[in-house]
Order: sequence, then structure tokens, then C-alpha cells
Amino acid sequence: MKAIYPGSFDPVTTGHLDIISRSASLFQPLIVAVLENSTKETLFTPGERILLLREATKGIPGVEVESFNGLLIDYMKKKKSRIAIRGMRALSDFDYEYQMALTNKGLYHKMETVFLITKGEYAFISSSLVKELARLGGDVSRVAPACVIKALAKKYK
Ligand code: PNS
Repeated sequence: MKAIYPGSFDPVTTGHLDIISRSASLFQPLIVAVLENSTKETLFTPGERILLLREATKGIPGVEVESFNGLLIDYMKKKKSRIAIRGMRALSDFDYEYQMALTNKGLYHKMETVFLITKGEYAFISSSLVKELARLGGDVSRVAPACVIKALAKKYK
């Protein structure tokens, strides 16, 4: 069954990759969908985020990377998928995820949000933390894939 993993991915982290490989073993194909028109200010353009995701996921079978605009439910209907994947790190993620899952379900009753609990060793990782570490010259080798480390070094040189 096809599933969609939506997010900002600014940039993709080791934690995202864990969720991608685990969900790709449950759902095929897995479409990683990068939100383009986010109100969040992003470091990487949608095009850059897509290229980094493609590079980072090239060894994981059945993964496709795309972008979307507007409501997630409209994109899901267009892709003929009713499963959205989200990673849950800690209780601090719950309120936002709960609100989003219920909003989406209210708009598209067939939709199901499937939550995967992040592996313990990745539970503290976020894209913001990765950017902050890289900006201040910290070691990001354990929290980001090689292509992202390179791209961050370029942005912050
Ligand atoms: O990685 P993020 O920033 O936590 O991902 C959030 C995302 C992209 C999944 C969410 O903001 C989203 O689906 N946005 C599209 C607009 C939408 O459908 N909003 C209604 C659901 S709250």
C-alpha cells in the first residue's frame, strides 16, 4: 500500500532517515513529500531539500521524493493515498501531531496517520538542532547524512 511521509525536511536528518527506511519496509511505494509553500523560513530551497532527500535515500528501495503545495489532504487524494506517516520523538511532539492528525481526519475521513516512534538514539534530533550545530561549527556527523553535512558546510562557510 502506498504511503506519504510529508514534512519540511529542512534539511533531512538521521532521524528522518530512520523513519523513512522503517516506513518503506511497511509501505510501498513511500512518497517523501516536501512542503513547498511553508510559512516557516527555511535554510534550503524546496529544490535543494528534494535533491538532498534523493541523495540520502538512494539506497532505500521503493522511496520516491516529491514536493507539494497547499493542503496535505488534497495532495494525498491526488496521489491516491490515504496513509500519512509521521515520526513521534517525545511527548513534546504529541500536541501538534494530535491536532494535525485530527484536522486532516476531519477534512478527509479515509485518511489515517500512522505514527512511528523514533529510535531512542535519534529522539533528540531535529532539523533545527542540526542547523544550529552546523552554524556554530559543531560536529553534525552523527545527526545528518553526508550530503547534508556537505551542503550545510557550504551554506555556513
Ligand atoms: O516537518 P514538519 O514541518 O513538522 O511538517 C509539517 C507538515 C508539512 C506535515 C504540515 O505542516 C502540513 O501538512 N502542511 C500542509 C498544509 C496542511 O495540510 N495543513 C493542515 C494540516 S494541520
